[in-house]
Amino acid sequence: MATIGVGIIGCGGIALQNHLPGIELCPDTQLLGLCDSSAEVLERAVQQTGVTVSTQDYNELVRRDDIHAVIIATPNATHAPMAIAAASNGKHVLCEKPLGLDQAETLDMLRCARENGVRHMTAFTYRFVPAMRYMKYLVESGGIGQPYHIRTCRLQDWGDRNLGWRQLSHMAGSGELGDMLSHRLDYAHFLIGDMKRLTADIRRFIDDRQGQASDLEDWVTVMAEFENQATGVLESSKLATGRGEGARSQDYCEINGSEATMVFQLANPNQFQIARRGQAGLETIDVPSEFLVWPGTSRDPSQGDPGINFRWDQDFEFIDAIRNQRECDPSFLQGARVQAVMDLALQAAVDKTWLDVQYPGG
Ligand SMILES: NC(=O)c1ccc[n+]([C@@H]2O[C@H](COP(=O)([O-])OP(=O)(O)OC[C@H]3O[C@@H](n4cnc5c(N)ncnc54)[C@H](O)[C@@H]3O)[C@@H](O)[C@H]2O)c1
Repeated sequence: MATIGVGIIGCGGIALQNHLPGIELCPDTQLLGLCDSSAEVLERAVQQTGVTVSTQDYNELVRRDDIHAVIIATPNATHAPMAIAAASNGKHVLCEKPLGLDQAETLDMLRCARENGVRHMTAFTYRFVPAMRYMKYLVESGGIGQPYHIRTCRLQDWGDRNLGWRQLSHMAGSGELGDMLSHRLDYAHFLIGDMKRLTADIRRFIDDRQGQASDLEDWVTVMAEFENQATGVLESSKLATGRGEGARSQDYCEINGSEATMVFQLANPNQFQIARRGQAGLETIDVPSEFLVWPGTSRDPSQGDPGINFRWDQDFEFIDAIRNQRECDPSFLQGARVQAVMDLALQAAVDKTWLDVQYPGG
């Protein structure tokens, strides 16, 4: 395949901000088709990209011979039918997180992608943060000793504004759990490993968001014990008044090991803080240059907003995996593993108990 033709399904917030510039950086790759169920959003995307193939029906896009791969960036409830239609038509699929509404859906997606021999990827964007990749390197190379604790805190102030599909269970599946905590669950897997058991709680403080009922949680906490004995406390809220939103609001991860503590904050993705055993406090260090971009990408890390631009590397990973006929990292399997934890967390919140985690087989 000389040029890889790409279609985007869902031309809303994340597609144009993350995936469009990511695809533009991939060699011998062309965005050829756009799909959005909203005529207005579709027209705006056509104007912005100059792409001439556009449709409101994703089935039309996935049947085209010139499109080899699709990026799904639509509300969560649509991920499974779209990914299954795309894979069944032989298209490689990069799908946004959370991968599906529940574990059964995500396993169907994984099975279908495998049966059709296509590449499949879940957009767990945080794996591409330079500091996160360097922290992973330090954990794996023994730089922090035995991991004791992981602590993540995602605090935003979304107030009582209307969240559209994000506040509806039939569209989103879960609230803050799938929206924000799913990333943290994935990088807890990435940095620390498998969970052994967990408990969780969720809370909805706002039932009506500017005239529209919300039936999903706006706060969640998961407490976990990992297979390697480490403990985790992962909290996420949309109601941290005054904290702001997005990349500049509180997005914190701390790992305490026997030899060192590491602290990451998304506000400074190319730096993090470390304190070694015996030290009195944290020092800020730069992430070494070899971790600033994903291997092979031509992205210049000195250009643009570092809080945004690392996100483009995930599209490079997707296209590179297609080109080199290898598994994407992270694949649908990682999406299904996070979904297993999410389903269990919701159950634990209802049952008010600890539950053993059982991951889907590899
Ligand atoms: N990886 C990340 O960091 C990240 C960040 C934000 C959002 N997301 C995920 O991306 C997805 C989209 O989020 P968003 O913020 O861009 O939402 P959005 O509401 O801004 O955009 C979604 C778009 O999908 C379109 N759409 C809805 N149903 C459709 C259908 N059946 N066919 C075609 N188009 C359809 C909507 O018209 C809308 O334009 C969600 O799954 C979300 O969780 C991931």
